[in-house]
Amino acid sequence: MARKLEPAIIAIFGATGDLSNRMLLPALYEMSAQHQLPDQSIILGIGRNKNKNDAGFRKDVQQAVEKAGVSDSAKIGKWCDSMVYYQGIDNGTQAEFSKLRSRILSLEKKHKLKGNRIFHLAIPPPSFEPTIKSLGVAELNKSGGWTRLVIEKPFGRDLKTAIQLNETIYQYFSEAQVYRIDHYLGKETVQNLLAFRFGNSLFESVWNREKIEKIEINVDEELGIESRADYYEKSGALRDMVQNHLTQLLTLTAMEIPLAFKADELRFEKVKVLHSIAPIKDEDVVFGQYGPGELGGNGVRGYHQEEGVRRDSKTPTFVKIKMSVDNWRWHGVPFYLTTGKRLKERKSEIVVTFRCPPVALFKATDGNETHPNVLVIAIQPNEGFRISFQVKKPGTEMAVQSEWMHFSYSEAFGPIPEAYHTLLLDVMEGDQTLFVSADETLASWKLYTPVLHTHHTIYPYPAGSWGPEQAEALK
Ligand code: BG6
Repeated sequence: MARKLEPAIIAIFGATGDLSNRMLLPALYEMSAQHQLPDQSIILGIGRNKNKNDAGFRKDVQQAVEKAGVSDSAKIGKWCDSMVYYQGIDNGTQAEFSKLRSRILSLEKKHKLKGNRIFHLAIPPPSFEPTIKSLGVAELNKSGGWTRLVIEKPFGRDLKTAIQLNETIYQYFSEAQVYRIDHYLGKETVQNLLAFRFGNSLFESVWNREKIEKIEINVDEELGIESRADYYEKSGALRDMVQNHLTQLLTLTAMEIPLAFKADELRFEKVKVLHSIAPIKDEDVVFGQYGPGELGGNGVRGYHQEEGVRRDSKTPTFVKIKMSVDNWRWHGVPFYLTTGKRLKERKSEIVVTFRCPPVALFKATDGNETHPNVLVIAIQPNEGFRISFQVKKPGTEMAVQSEWMHFSYSEAFGPIPEAYHTLLLDVMEGDQTLFVSADETLASWKLYTPVLHTHHTIYPYPAGSWGPEQAEALK
């Protein structure tokens, strides 16, 4: 369906940072190249560097887009010249924000924009609140058009700071103006969870405690912490991955059928799941931290040897949690959430294990394989599904074994769009369906804050393994 979008100024704070370079700027170029960004729209990069000018930033953007795989440099250059600008705000004093306001007003006049503004905060979390306040004090939240605020995770560090962040936001913006990005919600395969569950009648009747034995949500990464020690040391695996990405996967898997495919209805059902999760028991959590090891045949250093990490750091790079969603549908079905850095393979999957038949006609003692049916929803890579069945082994004997049936996204559809492309278009359109509501962030922090505030042993695991063996034992 063609979308009707209004032109806007897209102002990116942190425009020279990693997220902008790797994700936002290439996605905006792609949107433009596919004629999805309305004409007249412009991008204003905002950064600390006051010595950079429009020309300097355009060079950065050109490089970022080329690095993302676009080869037509003349076309990118033309695009940059026509719609990309830069404003340095030094250390972000109110005087700098007044200058920013003047710049925005003059660009709006030049491009005949009516005041639709997107402020995208691609900046470190400690800068969220001061930036939001300065935007408000400079009255940049008021214009003749609409204003939208885009915030990247993490939304706070625990329940208290999340409440505080929301309060700061609400001084200047309403919830309807806020787009909290959890990029997992922009992934095609994550959105497809909704299509899979609510577009097919086949699975709904078995999607419950009667038929399902357990659900595992795994986000395994080969990557270490790259050059993000400063952020990661204060964050760790629970804040970085579980509180947001894995919890989104959990709510989409466990939620009830929403009344309609609308932001409010979906968010409401997701929050209900979070409210029904029982407090997490200490014995149901295993933390780990990678030590030196081997990945893909190469030696890799341990977390303590990473640049910028304290040699005695207790920051967890792995976590596994067992949870109970205590509602009528799921009571008694354990949900396991696992994620870790420097694991053996990059793999994000939701694994649904069904109950075995109540009476085993085909017994293991008679040479049968007695596996339960398993549905694997592969989020990445090799996006798709596979489901295992018991089938008869060909031959004169009546013996069964397990086989897989596959669906592959790339075979069916070819390449799929990047998460940010989808999400930035949704911001332009004003559709909050794939964004995290304030209620969700608070309900999620309420669940995890006690875990963060409890002392847990951090078990070591070698890089390139599947995590500490204590996690295997958590059943
Ligand atoms: C980010 C985390 O939110 O998600 C990173 O901060 C992590 O630590 C990344 O590597 C994983 O995202 P993806 O899309 O590669 O699974």
